[in-house]
Amino acid sequence: MRVPMIAGNWKMNTTVSEAIELVNEMRRGLDQIGNVDKVICPPFISLAAVRELIKGSSIKLGAQNVYFAEKGAFTGEISPLMLADLCEFVIIGHSERRQYFNERGEIVNKKMVAALKVGLKPILCIGERLEENEAGKTEEVVTEQLRSSLAGIDYLNGLVIAYEPVWAIGTGKAATGEQSNETIGLIRRNIAKLYDKEIAQGMRILYGGSVTAGNIAEFAQQPEIDGGLVGGASLKATEFLSIVKQTSEIKTVK
Ligand code: 13P
Repeated sequence: MRVPMIAGNWKMNTTVSEAIELVNEMRRGLDQIGNVDKVICPPFISLAAVRELIKGSSIKLGAQNVYFAEKGAFTGEISPLMLADLCEFVIIGHSERRQYFNERGEIVNKKMVAALKVGLKPILCIGERLEENEAGKTEEVVTEQLRSSLAGIDYLNGLVIAYEPVWAIGTGKAATGEQSNETIGLIRRNIAKLYDKEIAQGMRILYGGSVTAGNIAEFAQQPEIDGGLVGGASLKATEFLSIVKQTSEIKTVK
């Protein structure tokens, strides 16, 4: 059985002291919720401080991005090895990176290879833009994103996929549970084709895009959806706790 996961992507929010405050607000509550992997992804500069705060708890840590080179003269970049020393997960290929920083297929693939090489667990984000969705190209787009991101990769190290339709991110217009379940089912079938059925069945695939405490149940109830990658709502301790708690309750086999 797949352990559900809720990951909070804080994006470019919180100073170090705000990050510490936020973790202090949610730490105890999060730690008490079982049957779901709880991952928080604060900005780079807060990773070390947050890591200390969650030591000994069941909360896991992730970064929001990584560079693909091992080390060297790449001013301002963060290497996979630097992250592997601090956290377990790393978000790769987020649509905001694709959109604002021009990170496409080959770069995403290089980041995936580099992260996996040092033992980081990638949370690979894929998803179609509004015009692609309206043109009925969702299947084509996610299939191609998967193919290019995973090209040449055979060791997946607990890879998590987040299906985040771009039009649902930060817009308050979440996809429906049913729509996302369908696309995530398709992603799973693609993973089965690229790897095998067993790998596909064991892989966690999350939904992301305007997830809130008010709509998480709709997603968590879907059989193909293993949890969520949460942006805005992960910055509010009580709301994030509620999202995690509902997921745990819904996914616990009665
Ligand atoms: P929102 O939850 O703010 O829509 O962001 C989703 C997201 O991009 C998570 O990575």
